[in-house]
Amino acid sequence: MSNRTGRARARGTQDIESLLQEKRVFKPDAAFAKQANWKRGTLAEYRDLAERSPQRFWAKMAREHVDWFAPWKRVLDWKPPFAKWFVGGKLNVSYNCLDRHLLGEDAWRRNKAAIIWEGEPGETRVITYGQLHREVCKFANVLKELGVRKGDRIALYMPMIPELAIAMLACTRIGAPHSVVFGGFSAEALRDRILDVGATFVVTADGGYRRGKAHALKPAVDEALDGIDAVSHVVIVRRTGQKINFEAGRDLWWHDLMERASADCKPAKLDAEHPLFVLYTSGSTGKPKGILHTTGGYLTYVTVTAKAIFDLKEEDTYWCTADIGWITGHSYVVYGILANGATTFMYEGVPTHPRPDRFWDIIERHQITIFYTAPTAIRTFIRLGEEHPKKHDLSTLRLLGTVGEPINPEAWMWYHRVIGRKRCPIVDTWWQTETGGILITPIPGVVSTKPGSATLPFPGIEPDVFDEEGRSVRPPNGGFLVIKKPWPGMLRGIWGDDARYVEQYWKRYRNVYFAGDGAHRDKQGNFWIMGRIDDVMNISGHRIGTMELESALVSHAKVAEAAVVGRPDEITGTAIVAFVTPVSGANIGGDLRNELREHVSKQIGAIAKPKDIHFTDALPKTRSGKIMRRLLRAIASGDERVGDTSTLEDYSVLARLREAEEG
Ligand code: WT7
Repeated sequence: MSNRTGRARARGTQDIESLLQEKRVFKPDAAFAKQANWKRGTLAEYRDLAERSPQRFWAKMAREHVDWFAPWKRVLDWKPPFAKWFVGGKLNVSYNCLDRHLLGEDAWRRNKAAIIWEGEPGETRVITYGQLHREVCKFANVLKELGVRKGDRIALYMPMIPELAIAMLACTRIGAPHSVVFGGFSAEALRDRILDVGATFVVTADGGYRRGKAHALKPAVDEALDGIDAVSHVVIVRRTGQKINFEAGRDLWWHDLMERASADCKPAKLDAEHPLFVLYTSGSTGKPKGILHTTGGYLTYVTVTAKAIFDLKEEDTYWCTADIGWITGHSYVVYGILANGATTFMYEGVPTHPRPDRFWDIIERHQITIFYTAPTAIRTFIRLGEEHPKKHDLSTLRLLGTVGEPINPEAWMWYHRVIGRKRCPIVDTWWQTETGGILITPIPGVVSTKPGSATLPFPGIEPDVFDEEGRSVRPPNGGFLVIKKPWPGMLRGIWGDDARYVEQYWKRYRNVYFAGDGAHRDKQGNFWIMGRIDDVMNISGHRIGTMELESALVSHAKVAEAAVVGRPDEITGTAIVAFVTPVSGANIGGDLRNELREHVSKQIGAIAKPKDIHFTDALPKTRSGKIMRRLLRAIASGDERVGDTSTLEDYSVLARLREAEEG
């Protein structure tokens, strides 16, 4: 096995030891349990059914949570590793998120808030289900009139404004798969994604507000589309009012188009396996993967998980702080929440603007009841100090959630004590872009929690921890996290690359999904996720591939070779450390460091900027020429014990790297 695996093991063992000392157990609160959507009995019954017949369980979930225009003929068609769920069934996602809330006995929801939005400058908008339905129908008609046909891909590069949700839902209404590109990604990254997915339309905005400034988006679109003829139209939302370049014939204003659009648009009756969206995520090669999700299985999965795990009730105001540009925003800002007829709160800006208490101020003013955020944010708040949340009345909160990376028990305890005021259950939810929705999580009111553990699988989900040979390891040993049965929310492939799909997720173990995370279980069966074991780093809950960074670095004229590793960071979980060999004669020092950071930012986006850059005249390599990342990792984190160096080709490299460190 490669030294990668050895590293995962070594790190895993260390973590296991520290986590095994975690003895605190939080039993469900009786009052919460009494009102919970899923009671102890419900969960037991579902687990039992899912064990006896997963297909019958998922069929029941699909029937109870989703409205179908035509029933499916088969629940699952599984030709490993290719799955089709609810085969032959017909449905529409926007119908399920909107129309059905306006009909029959649910018609009262017409005037219920679907989206409550707050811009960073402070303005708010409330959009009811009735209004959202109207806007979505209008924008669906706009797209149709521009020539968008079922199956055409639409790239959405937008700030966190309601128009993003409207555009997504409009796409689903006519069966045009969307590909949302996070607004923090660069023009280059946007261009790569537009080309890979073959988008023919782009929806964007002039800009959005971040940290008190108007952050422009349109220039990146112009740059990304330079030389791409396939994109016929760019629709632009006016958000900031900043000046933009307007390309006649191609560019169109959202408000002009909407003014003229009809609000009458029938939802397309789409096949359960019709592509719903493609969302890019980093992998262990240089090229991001377009993760494909389809209609029926995905909608079923996000709707049932949102209802059970967030305990969504009619009167809740639910806030997930993720940007819609990530899977968390797709599944649990938009689709899973609206499909349940619940109220989703959306915020445009950064957590600390204009003051460090912005989030707590929002919770108080909007009376947020359910709050879902990431460990990296929690660690930032810990550092900012308790006085900020303490200034606010957070008594409306009744449930807290976390996602994106392992949460350290101390951060969990702070979240419980300072934000939850010891009253709120915490759901630590493990999942991935690929899984569509949450797979491992406590069910609030039923499952006891332990700080740092995502606890137990959702019914119908069968995770395991495997050793290298594919044997299930006994608690408390660590190994590779796998999922042994298909589930409706699973990815259906990597856009345009079936071979990579097979290679990435299904090759290591036969017909078993390989998640790429290390994990172990305790005696009660709780899962403890240790983090990535491949060449993917998790920076503030976002995946960045080391290869992707390395190719960005070497594309700079002054860089001959580069290797990137992660080191532990108190706030972001992992910090990016780059080892760079400049071309001979290049002037190194502060200027080149800044130049390289800017270069990476331009190639990928600001989130990928390396924190540390070390210049070195050579990288440590094995005799076969493989970069010894284990050594670099040790150096990056200031670890003296670099371990076995017997395969190192040139010993002096190590000494010189250390010297560079001191210099
Ligand atoms: C990776 C997936 C799923 C939405 C956010 C990230 C890590 C995610 C947890 C958790 C420990 C977690 C894993 C996973 N991760 N949630 N609760 N505990 N680790 O989506 O970008 O697809 O990243 O995030 O390493 O593989 P993503």
